[in-house]
Amino acid sequence: MIFWKSSISTASKGKTIFRRTSWSWWREAGLETRRSSSPSNYGATGAPRSIAKRRAEVRRLTNIIWLHRSVLELPFLGIGPFDFIDCTGVLHHLEDPTAGLQALRAVLKDTGVMLIMLYGKYGRTGVYQMQELLRRINVHTEDMQAKIANTNAVLNSLPKTNWFKRGEDLIGDHREFGEAGIVDVFLHTKDRAFSVEEVYNLVEGCNLKTIELIERGRYKYMVEWYLRDPHLLEQIRKLSRKEQQAIAELLAGDIIVHNFYAGTNQDTVATPDDLRNVPFYFLYSPGDIAAMIEKKPGQPVTIESTLFPSPIEFTPGPYTKHIFRHLDGEQSLREIFDQVRKDVRLTEQQLSNDDLLKEFKPIYERFNHVGWMLLRHKSVGKFRSLEEMQRPL
Ligand SMILES: C[S@@+](CC[C@H](N)C(=O)[O-])C[C@H]1O[C@@H](n2cnc3c(N)ncnc32)[C@H](O)[C@@H]1O
Repeated sequence: MIFWKSSISTASKGKTIFRRTSWSWWREAGLETRRSSSPSNYGATGAPRSIAKRRAEVRRLTNIIWLHRSVLELPFLGIGPFDFIDCTGVLHHLEDPTAGLQALRAVLKDTGVMLIMLYGKYGRTGVYQMQELLRRINVHTEDMQAKIANTNAVLNSLPKTNWFKRGEDLIGDHREFGEAGIVDVFLHTKDRAFSVEEVYNLVEGCNLKTIELIERGRYKYMVEWYLRDPHLLEQIRKLSRKEQQAIAELLAGDIIVHNFYAGTNQDTVATPDDLRNVPFYFLYSPGDIAAMIEKKPGQPVTIESTLFPSPIEFTPGPYTKHIFRHLDGEQSLREIFDQVRKDVRLTEQQLSNDDLLKEFKPIYERFNHVGWMLLRHKSVGKFRSLEEMQRPL
């Protein structure tokens, strides 16, 4: 877990980060070192922590305080309150996830935000059938190595009709992380998953609000990505956001984890309406969108990628290509709009920020829904790319 308090002034730009387990560290930073393949390293043992520490070293991150305590102790440690808490894959392993979330809430600032990951119920349907199957098979088996051997034997002979087999492409940890992955997926003794509705109930039960569900962008939770029938869509759009997202989850069927932001204040989502925000591409290379627009002026632009379930389509307006030309991850929207006016030799009276925003906002939203384009406030420094962070010392 990561706790971030920006008000403490330290040598490195006033950021203090507390990390509880190394596993959060791996996933959050998307790093290359793999989970140890030994099942004895499962859980909060020394090995994952030493990996996390090594990673911090590689990234030259020195403003970290390491604590090895239970999440439930947080309210009593005299730390916080924090601006940001990242808790990935932990609460669903607790006896009482509500107690865990309440403990996190106790150290969150009123203006703070948490990013939480919980297992997704429907996407993991096959996993829970496998867990039950192996509990039954291993009923008289105590030894972990023997349980793993049994699991491998079962995996090697699963019939095509088995639910896990049917959705085999959804879960990969048992293939990627050796024995630790097998234990984590099939033999975990404390593991529960949440539907969208259960996520909302958990969050609301702790007097928090679900700000945004963001598994692989937001599109996974948008019924529009799956349904085309206008009449049906009109009916569904009358439902609450939670209801719509619950429908999208069932339509998709493959949401194996929920990532979401929660906090006491729901109104925290960055918007292009604030022209101090800097739009930037996240992870994927943008390609030359300005050139694509230029090739077929006024025509719809379609961007296909194996990363997205369906292509991103938008119809550029008269200034869209100029906006994309200046979208460099450095300039704020206001600065980009100033550049556009220079390009086309118009004054702010002739081409206002509002005009340009009206053209850009729906396009930004298309990209943002798949997590391709994000916003950062101009006052926040540019993020280091994963590649840059990985670069060896
Ligand atoms: C499946 S791992 C996921 C962790 C990691 N954040 C990641 O993204 O890969 C679950 C982690 O929860 C930790 N955990 C279990 N119970 C905990 C508790 N009461 N307090 C804090 N951490 C706990 C375990 O030590 C383990 O590292």
